[in-house]
Amino acid sequence: MNPAIEVIGVTKKFKRRTSLLRYIFKKEKKEKIALDNVNLTIKEGELFGLLGPNGAGKTTLVRCIATLLIPDKGEIRILGKDISKNPNFARRNIGLLTSGERTLYWKLSAIDNLRFFAALYGLSGKERDKRIDFLLELLELKDFADERVEKYSSGMKQKLSLARALLHDPKILLLDEPTLGLDPAFARFIRNFIKEELIKKQRKTILLTTHYMDEADELCEEIAFIHNGKIIDVKTPEEFKKSIPHKDVLEIRFLGFIEKEDFQKISGVENFTLFSENGIWTAKFICKDTEVILNDILSILNSKKCKILSVVNLEPTLEDVFIYHTGKSLKEDTTEKL
Ligand SMILES: Nc1ncnc2c1ncn2[C@@H]1O[C@H](COP(=O)(O)OP(=O)(O)OP(=O)(O)O)[C@@H](O)[C@H]1O
Ligand SMILES: [Mg+2]
Repeated sequence: MNPAIEVIGVTKKFKRRTSLLRYIFKKEKKEKIALDNVNLTIKEGELFGLLGPNGAGKTTLVRCIATLLIPDKGEIRILGKDISKNPNFARRNIGLLTSGERTLYWKLSAIDNLRFFAALYGLSGKERDKRIDFLLELLELKDFADERVEKYSSGMKQKLSLARALLHDPKILLLDEPTLGLDPAFARFIRNFIKEELIKKQRKTILLTTHYMDEADELCEEIAFIHNGKIIDVKTPEEFKKSIPHKDVLEIRFLGFIEKEDFQKISGVENFTLFSENGIWTAKFICKDTEVILNDILSILNSKKCKILSVVNLEPTLEDVFIYHTGKSLKEDTTEKL
């Protein structure tokens, strides 16, 4: 199968707004490397996942491929053509869905939004109306076509953004966190739509970014782990899960306060992560044998007067593979605070 997207040695740096004092005393570098010599090949018709925590570089890569950012180094090819020399060809063949950015006009109705964006792609008349009608039907938005977008729920807005990305029937779709912040029913609709309609029926090539491991596991044929702007590895979800040599994963949830350093002394731990959600701490340990480390962990938690809520042994998931490689959870935020 031919490559649809080729990313060759792409590096992208951003200037940091550091103060002179921080620069001198904290030796803070003036640049942040958001993408560090990234190499990826995505084949035609493939659903490829880019999985990484907040701040890993996912959106930066998507924006480079979509010609919205220019890399400092490297080359990107779309359907064999260098996008720096053929930006219009790339834009014609790419549909982009971003989340968290306003890509629709909220004061306009859904149908007027689509008419406006269709005009930007040179669509008009009957051809345009047919395409819009088809997309509204497909995304189950027809009954709400004349409503102003400001009245839409976030799930409906995301469906409409997907219709917008599909207007010019591009061969390639870049879906940046397509289900971020959506309620479960809409997230399920979008995932099904991607799998059944876009991949199976329409045979699009899709690059999907996410930090939901279940989403990547369910949808993607191949996954690249990205962390601190570097691609750590590219494999199928199954290959990733088999790649952890030590299979035991111990998850402990507790209340109280503990520092990462407290766990660092325990021998027998291959890697671990610690994060809190809604005031509850979760520590996950990857090790050869949980029985060997359990006593040490419990005595540390007891000495810090933490209240243990649950202790469970788990089958390794994609998340655990990520922790094994990076010592970070996909739920941790590695974004550079600007
Ligand atoms: N315009 C910018 N100026 C300066 N730094 C930036 C800019 N855009 C991104 N960065 C930095 O580059 C790094 C990668 O950011 P990016 O948005 O690509 O991550 P991400 O993987 O998409 O994260 P998230 O999951 O939060 O969307 C972060 O440290 C971020 O702070
Ligand atoms: Mg992002």
